[in-house]
Amino acid sequence: MTQKIRIAALVSGRGTNLQAIVDGCRQGLIDGEVVLTITNRAQAGAVDRCRREGIPCLYVDNRRFSSRESFDAEVASTLRQARVDLVILAGFMRLLTPVLIRAFDGRIMNIHPSLLPSFPGLHPQQQAVDHGVRFTGCTVHFVDEGVDSGPIILQAVVPVLDDDNEESLRQRILHQEHIVYPQAIQLFAQGRLKIEGRRVRILSSSG
Ligand code: GRF
Repeated sequence: MTQKIRIAALVSGRGTNLQAIVDGCRQGLIDGEVVLTITNRAQAGAVDRCRREGIPCLYVDNRRFSSRESFDAEVASTLRQARVDLVILAGFMRLLTPVLIRAFDGRIMNIHPSLLPSFPGLHPQQQAVDHGVRFTGCTVHFVDEGVDSGPIILQAVVPVLDDDNEESLRQRILHQEHIVYPQAIQLFAQGRLKIEGRRVRILSSSG
């Protein structure tokens, strides 16, 4: 039997991606286990999900820290103690500093609701509507020191309809997020992701 990877999630919001990943682990779609969740928002919907699922959820109040670096150092130390193999950002509303990124280099993933490099940053669905693109989607990528700029692992495409608004588009993209994020994590768990500069090569399952 293959060894399961130990996954930690950083969350600030509803946690629907976290839920899809927890479900993927339980259903055997991901050879992994979410061993820890860290949130900087005590009221996040994700906290209730953790409680229901029996996943330890640690609240780290960023206001206790004098700098973003000291917050990240505390998070990195907690993740190391939990012997985490992969860190997933699932609606974590903070930019990571090099302190955390370098501690888990090549082992932090994020999902962003646009086809990067289009529409990085805030309100990507509104940006897509405003720009008038016909297609948008979501991107799973490794985290580097830029904003939504790291090597791309998987993407999924959705159409933008004439009467779409930010919310309708958000829902359509979210549905795809819940499919591709678990897939990307499983590729990582299988050791099939090789970062080569900006590109991520997906190795065949036979090795
Ligand atoms: C998603 O849209 C994701 O792409 C972005 O933050 C949102 C998180 O949603 N990074 P949820 O908390 O997983 O429902």
